[in-house]
Amino acid sequence: MKTYTVIGVTLLFFSSMPIIAGQSQSTCNPAVENTVIYQPEEDIQDEPLCRSQTRLREYPNDETSPVFQHYKNMRSKQTLAYVLLQKKKYSNLHSYIALSIQEALQALKNFVDPSDPDVELSNNIHNYQTAERCRKLLPNEDWFHLVGLIHDIGKILYTFDEPTWAIVGDTFPVGHPFSQKCIYPDLFKDNTDYGNATIYEEHYGFDNVHFSWGHDEYMYHVLRHNKTTLPEEALYIIRYHSFYPWHQHGAYAELASEKDIKMIKYLKLFNQCDLYSKTDDVLDYESIKGYYDKLIKKYLPAKLKFFKPTTQKFYSQYHFSVFFNCVRII
Ligand SMILES: [Fe+2]
Ligand SMILES: [Fe+2]
Repeated sequence: MKTYTVIGVTLLFFSSMPIIAGQSQSTCNPAVENTVIYQPEEDIQDEPLCRSQTRLREYPNDETSPVFQHYKNMRSKQTLAYVLLQKKKYSNLHSYIALSIQEALQALKNFVDPSDPDVELSNNIHNYQTAERCRKLLPNEDWFHLVGLIHDIGKILYTFDEPTWAIVGDTFPVGHPFSQKCIYPDLFKDNTDYGNATIYEEHYGFDNVHFSWGHDEYMYHVLRHNKTTLPEEALYIIRYHSFYPWHQHGAYAELASEKDIKMIKYLKLFNQCDLYSKTDDVLDYESIKGYYDKLIKKYLPAKLKFFKPTTQKFYSQYHFSVFFNCVRII
């Protein structure tokens, strides 16, 4: 029964979004096969590269705080049905905005993450700080440095008027019982999926599971669609870097596949750079920008097509123009 439910939901989802369907089933980026990937030691520690002893990720219990309010919305409103709608909304090939990475970074200039209790800087600054930490940690792995720079670009969703609870915050699987290891777990009680049984088989693999919608999932699909030559590990980090319940607390292990077990070391490694860069000083961009421009050129097209929301209006216009052209040809 569980299998049929999964197949049913999957077919429903895939039939409505051809782009994402093909990508989410894929576990291999052809461009990666000849890429030499750094293999971190099995015994990676979670020791931060942190020069300060600042404590991070301490979440207030104050119900009036912006962080609490953010998670109150995210926990209650990110249902399976909502996620499927969001994926459909951002999957139309004909609805996009073309931006270079630098333009997309500039667009993040005014975005401050309300789910983050540790940083009040704009995301543009955070991206460069993370990239520089990645560069220090693995100096010879340039793809890892670029991941640092672009990992949060999906927050460009805010320019499409998405609410912040549909952009940022720790991610979690939907269509599956919520874990107590998530922050503010009691807030899930207001989610209409609360108490529902899972729709997934054990160890189904995160690539086949639906996650709360946000910048991670969005940017993963943008990169896939734009045929980046970044290795599979890079795309994996971008897709799951906010999945703290798993990579920091081991939650949802029942859904993890062999691939996920193998990849967790990259998430942990990257998290050192992402999280602890928040304690760094502001950088001199002019001196480092040239280095990252070269990496962008190596791994990405000059302009990326960022999916824009598909609206009812767009559908009407699109279908009308297809109909009109058909009539003209006849
Ligand atoms: Fe992020
Ligand atoms: Fe980040």
